[in-house]
Amino acid sequence: MPTKEIIQKGAELLRVKCAPVTDFEAARKIVGDLWDTVEYFKTTYPVTRGVGLAAPQIGESVRISVLEKVSGERYVLINPEIVDHSESKTPIREGCLSFLEYRGMVPRHEWVTVKAYDPEGKEYELEGEGDFAMLLQHELDHLDGILMFDHLPNKEADLFPAEERR
Ligand code: NI
Repeated sequence: MPTKEIIQKGAELLRVKCAPVTDFEAARKIVGDLWDTVEYFKTTYPVTRGVGLAAPQIGESVRISVLEKVSGERYVLINPEIVDHSESKTPIREGCLSFLEYRGMVPRHEWVTVKAYDPEGKEYELEGEGDFAMLLQHELDHLDGILMFDHLPNKEADLFPAEERR
């Protein structure tokens, strides 16, 4: 069972600007909870383009996100920042663990470079393109209380049902 519930649509916690991590020991506990929650989620739902989860989605308003690529490679992003990105954006099909029934075509930078800290407090840089760039932008947005439909012209009205899962 997950140690935390994934917060669903409507929760005010998803709209909070999260606080930076200063205590990495406390952060490591939250990272563990995030991975447990991702693992549980994967037993209940098909994941085909990678998966990400941000701390506010399990009720913790701190700047921590975790991401897993389709290949299984895992990343922990603590106090992450986008330091470079493509000039242009392209709409990409996107979902959110807090809005499971919906998808949207969300304009995202085609590539981004992110600076973050790992659970040991060591700074590193990460580059992503395509689906992974989308995931990075989506999971970093969560830390500022920004949700995918905020990027859509008609907000929630531009979401569509997730009946075909790809
Ligand atoms: Ni999300």
